Amino acid sequence: MTASANVTPLLADRPVANMRPSAAIELHNVTKIYETASREQVHALSNINLDVGAGEFVSVLGASGCGKTTLLRIIGGLEGGYAGKLTLHGRGGDNSRRNVGIVFQDANLLPWRTILQNVLLPTQVLRLDKRASIARAHELIELVGLKGFENKYPFELSGGMRQRVSIARALVHDPSVLLMDEPFGALDALTREVMNSEVLKIWDTTKKTVFMITHSISEAVFMSDRVVVMSPRPGRVIAEIPIALSRPRNIDMLSEERFGGYTRELRRLLDVSALQAVNAKNSS
Ligand SMILES: Nc1ncnc2c1ncn2[C@@H]1O[C@H](COP(=O)(O)OP(=O)(O)OP(=O)(O)O)[C@@H](O)[C@H]1O
Ligand SMILES: [Mg+2]
Repeated sequence: MTASANVTPLLADRPVANMRPSAAIELHNVTKIYETASREQVHALSNINLDVGAGEFVSVLGASGCGKTTLLRIIGGLEGGYAGKLTLHGRGGDNSRRNVGIVFQDANLLPWRTILQNVLLPTQVLRLDKRASIARAHELIELVGLKGFENKYPFELSGGMRQRVSIARALVHDPSVLLMDEPFGALDALTREVMNSEVLKIWDTTKKTVFMITHSISEAVFMSDRVVVMSPRPGRVIAEIPIALSRPRNIDMLSEERFGGYTRELRRLLDVSALQAVNAKNSS
């Protein structure tokens, strides 16, 4: 099989309605303890059990330092030395690099490369077929609304545009899973709102499995099929809230009573777990 056979069209087949999707990401008892330079142990994650279905959009909320990025890095194959088991589409996590695309808070584009060259980077690292990759990069650049900017350099783009480039770059090798770590954290509120809807459109077009970390409760509710709440460190999954709002989502839903119900419930869960952590600290 040639590498070009790996580059598939953007419009994936939709899963049959009402069928429970098979798990794209499975975490079984994942525990991570860091050892710092001064030999102190930092218990970052404790027995994380979590499944994310193929094509599902899952967000993670939790206090700063509770291990969200650690979890994302483990799924993305960037962090080793953990206990427990990770499988992607039923296979061990060693296939992360090919199956996963990652968007971080900062776009981290290479300033000496054009937008097209930045988007193509993962295909060069993975040695995918050049012509098919260029065609796909052009499709993705159009999908993220940057047609016409292919030959510009990162410094010529706004923060929101740069983040669009990093989304295209994360999808160019056609991974099945898109991991996003506070992807809109550095954007102003209005750009962020626009990007939320844009990413939902991209998700709807490409049908990727999305695992997104955010600090915004309303963003999590607006975008997700399910919101996972983590406890303060060591991070554990303390709740999983399915979001039964209809799709496609639109900004008007933010003022719906049901939307407010979800955000209140999530805030309560975060407050209760933060309080428990404070009490546990004071009594130890
Ligand atoms: N390489 C490392 N060495 C030692 N400790 C680390 C390392 N990386 C992260 N930690 C610690 O692990 C814990 C979890 O960190 P992590 O970055 O996963 O949290 P987070 O939930 O993503 O926080 P934030 O919301 O602020 O981004 C923190 O206490 C952090 O200091
Ligand atoms: Mg983080």
